[in-house]
Amino acid sequence: MAEFVLGIETSSHQPPGAVLPGHPGPSTLQSLVILSQDVHQIFGGVVPELASRAHLRTIGPVVDRSLAEAGIGLDQVRGIAATAGPGLIGPLLVGLTYAKTLAWKRELPLVGVHHLEGHLFAPTLEQPDLSPPFVALLVSGGHTMLLEVRAWGRYRLLGQTRDDAAGEAFDKVAALLGLGYPGGPVIERLAGEGRPGRFRLPRPMLDAEGADRFAFSFSGLKTAVLRAVQLSDNLERDRADLARAFQDAAIEVLAVKTARAVEECGVDTVVLGGGVACNQALVESVRRSVGPSVRLAVAAPRLNTDNAAMIAAAGAWRLAQGERSGWDLEARDDLPFPGLVK
Ligand code: KG4
Ligand code: ZN
Repeated sequence: MAEFVLGIETSSHQPPGAVLPGHPGPSTLQSLVILSQDVHQIFGGVVPELASRAHLRTIGPVVDRSLAEAGIGLDQVRGIAATAGPGLIGPLLVGLTYAKTLAWKRELPLVGVHHLEGHLFAPTLEQPDLSPPFVALLVSGGHTMLLEVRAWGRYRLLGQTRDDAAGEAFDKVAALLGLGYPGGPVIERLAGEGRPGRFRLPRPMLDAEGADRFAFSFSGLKTAVLRAVQLSDNLERDRADLARAFQDAAIEVLAVKTARAVEECGVDTVVLGGGVACNQALVESVRRSVGPSVRLAVAAPRLNTDNAAMIAAAGAWRLAQGERSGWDLEARDDLPFPGLVK
């Protein structure tokens, strides 16, 4: 009888559940149920209290539907993986408490997963042969990290953002331009209509050296967009060109630093993960920067934005290593990235 891992991800606004085969090695996605909460679009961002309440209502039905779509019963689940952080504490608590209760009731092993390690595992769902060593750029609404992945579970942090995350910058710039939330997809669409080079924005830390050669900073870029918006006498006319200028600047820094890391680490594979990796201009820019001899692995958009399948994938690997979380597993917004080595 096949055995499966159930993934639960409630770090922000999406309350998904997913089921994956639980054996180590290549895993194929059996089901992924995602419910979007349009209420956050109305409020222009994620409202923690609304997210918690929505999760509380939907988590049971979402898990049931994941199992039903996978065509399995709980008796075929051999482990449960749930996001333990970082993220909004209320929603995380709902997911973790549900996962703990289910694990306790069914006497199943439970493992808490770091949200960003989930993003790192996402491409393996479609490319099961993907394996370290490689360099990974993780770009989400809350994080921007460049990692050298020496082995699964052994990570060297090359650099991260000093202020805003890449996705956060897309969201804030979208707000400055009077666009909706989340900002990334709207900016990408609008940038496609914009004229390149009409506005020239800074490339923060692009040429930084030493320890900062892999570090990022996006708040100055956001401020530069704000200034351009204030100076514009016709935002209607300038909006697409500004979106293009911002996207070009942000992407150039991300792509150049990623290529720099690939070269310095001497790897032949690069992985992009997190919501911002949905951006096709970023994917193409990284592809150009690393050249055709480097394999570029990036998941489909529904597996790049927050989802439970990536949590099940990372959790299945950790469970296969014999890792178990105790009942004292806590939801933490400051959960450290696991397995960091010097
Ligand atoms: O990983 P994710 O779904 O959630 C977090 O862990 O934060 O990432 C969400 C972020 C948002 O900031 C969103 O604007 C951004 O990913 N994003 C994009 C695109 N799609 C989503 N950014 C740029 N281009 C996109 N196409
Ligand atoms: Zn995420």
